[in-house]
Amino acid sequence: ENSMHQELGKLLSTAEGAEAESSQRDLKGFKQLFHRFLQVKGPSVDWAKINRPPEDSIQPYERIRSRALPEGVASSLNKLAVVKLNGGLGTSMGCKGPKSLISVRSENTFLDLTVQQIEHLNKTYNADVPLVLMNSFNTDEDTKKILQKYTHHRVKIYTFNQSRYPRINKESLLPVATSMGLTGENSEAWYPPGHGDIYASFHNSGLLEQLLAQGKEYIFVSNIDNLGATVDLHILNHLVSQPAETRCEFVMEVTDKTRADVKGGTLIEYEGKLRLLEIAQVPKAHVDEFKSVTKFKIFNTNNLWISLPAIKRLHKQNAMDLEIIVNPKTLNGGLNVIQLETAVGAAIKSFDNALGINVPRSRFLPVKTSSDLLLVMSNLYRLEAGSLTMSEKREFPTTPHVKLGSSFTKGTVIIIANHGDRIDIPAGAMLENKIVSGNLRI
Ligand code: UTP
Repeated sequence: ENSMHQELGKLLSTAEGAEAESSQRDLKGFKQLFHRFLQVKGPSVDWAKINRPPEDSIQPYERIRSRALPEGVASSLNKLAVVKLNGGLGTSMGCKGPKSLISVRSENTFLDLTVQQIEHLNKTYNADVPLVLMNSFNTDEDTKKILQKYTHHRVKIYTFNQSRYPRINKESLLPVATSMGLTGENSEAWYPPGHGDIYASFHNSGLLEQLLAQGKEYIFVSNIDNLGATVDLHILNHLVSQPAETRCEFVMEVTDKTRADVKGGTLIEYEGKLRLLEIAQVPKAHVDEFKSVTKFKIFNTNNLWISLPAIKRLHKQNAMDLEIIVNPKTLNGGLNVIQLETAVGAAIKSFDNALGINVPRSRFLPVKTSSDLLLVMSNLYRLEAGSLTMSEKREFPTTPHVKLGSSFTKGTVIIIANHGDRIDIPAGAMLENKIVSGNLRI
């Protein structure tokens, strides 16, 4: 730990000008995370102590929805801010730059669709729900350039930056960075430490305080690539209409697991509290049990409703003890590193009266791969005011399974066929940056 502190000191001395203050704060946060990482011995959960969540701790969405909405929906909406996690890049879809700027439907990007949804909400209810983007050093600049385009839309947009932490050598456990710089030999030396970073960064940016001063009480947080994560008035109403003493401070939207959903975290009861269990925390011997749909029936959609005063309180008390996810990576040069991350949902155990709500699958429409993209581009879905809903013509509630090879992450291929014509692409053909029309010659 001492060597780490020395190295961090050296890195900090290379910070220039305005960067010095934020670098200092980032490295302070990293020091605490690294300290906790060194303390961890063995698995973070004892399998024998895991229980199914009690009956009433995960409520069916239908029950929440069955309660009539009050007259003054706008007054509830004015207590809400929408936060989108926007720290990630589009790398897994073969793109450079922020993932949120990829066009997904009718030329609209994830960000466009989000803005349209909230604008529609604000216009319909004469409300003032702001959009908050949590950017990372990877996405901030490009995102801010684009934001100018929404200046005249009826939605106020705020941004704040999450932290930037140093990747560490897997063997020596020391930073691979030689300076605070992001270019040249340091271009792969830094990373955004997962969405669990939201609590500290939101607080440190001053935005948490600013929103509280505006009378905001809850944030609705979701992955920007989840096109199903729209503001749900019934869940909001459920939250704001409860008496102060039993106020629910955290809602996690979960949904029924299918055999295809082996990755997502699940809710368990642990030491009397609702807790998120991620696959990374599961001892090897129990991984199959974790993946089964019979024992763990639901998974986390990462649509979360969180009380702002509660975040402030818990942050002050330093009471959010998020489990550390150790993410191993190999850099381009072949060096093995690890990055220490945390997940936003892991904080559920620290909040009072936390609740899971089992929502319909339609609230979980993530676009992670080009295969997912083909589905959301197709007429399986209808686009209305920035929201995608499954076409009524679809006879089955499930979607077709699209499986594209990894070559589909490469370049742009456009295939043009006249109406009624047919273009056959031979099996095994490799198409890269090509426009195909008429007869295919490759
Ligand atoms: P990912 O797409 O990277 O993760 O991020 P995932 O595998 O689906 O889900 P998790 O991480 O296991 O829950 C999900 C969302 O979080 C943002 C991404 O931009 C995306 O919207 N994110 C991720 C951040 O904002 N910061 C981070 O450090 C990591």
